[in-house]
Amino acid sequence: MCSPEHFAVEYAINPWMDVTAPVDAELAVKQWDRLRETLVNLGHEVHLLTPERGLPDMVFAANGAFVVDGTVYGARFKHEQRAAEAEAHRAFYESQGWRFIAPSETNEGEGDFAYVPEAHGGLILAGHGFRTEIPAHAEAQEALGRPVISLRLVDPRFYHLDVALAAIDDANIVYFPGAFSAASQKVLAQLFPDAVVADDADVMAFGLNLVSDGLNVVLNSEAAGLAEKLKALGYHPVPVELAELKKGGGSVKCCIAELRR
Ligand code: ARG
Repeated sequence: MCSPEHFAVEYAINPWMDVTAPVDAELAVKQWDRLRETLVNLGHEVHLLTPERGLPDMVFAANGAFVVDGTVYGARFKHEQRAAEAEAHRAFYESQGWRFIAPSETNEGEGDFAYVPEAHGGLILAGHGFRTEIPAHAEAQEALGRPVISLRLVDPRFYHLDVALAAIDDANIVYFPGAFSAASQKVLAQLFPDAVVADDADVMAFGLNLVSDGLNVVLNSEAAGLAEKLKALGYHPVPVELAELKKGGGSVKCCIAELRR
């Protein structure tokens, strides 16, 4: 994770960002800190990147890399405003002794890659259409040695995979069908017949931008409907308020890069 000390909406690279809307950076830090505490209280170890002035989106740490089986596939940002973030992530992984593979292709890490370890022996789901480019899907498969399923995102509001789909445990996912092309919806229905299907209200509340340990599902507090659905299925929803960061087009999952050994 990376503190939003320098968080601001200084440019607009997704439809949620409005450079004229005021952002309370202090409140953003407070809300983010509650998220960090929530993870620690659930028993997770949280490493911190040092925020850098001039990189207002650095709080969205999910975009800096994608890690599976102890191997890190680095990010290469689409927009030049965020390009320098990739280096901070690379330095972190290299200093911690992770195996790091530098990318040649444009990809935004866990923003567009999700891993479902017990689905079909371990599947990577990958989005394209707005940020990550298709050649990066093949590059990730070669880097990580896991099958990559390409999914086409078609709605600019859901510009990253992780705002429209998430793993809720080791074998199942939740997704919003309307974010995907008709063919990609068919692929998801075939691979995940028991998936939780989210609705408009869930996705607009950034509810799908969640992290789960298989039982506890940490998600945006605005997504009350999705929390109810998950509860009925036996999960334990843990709502967190992240209204300031939503102004940058992100929520829970965007703030967290998961380290998978
Ligand atoms: N403002 C950031 C961008 O547009 C938000 C990134 C959100 N991160 C995510 N993993 N979806 O790039």
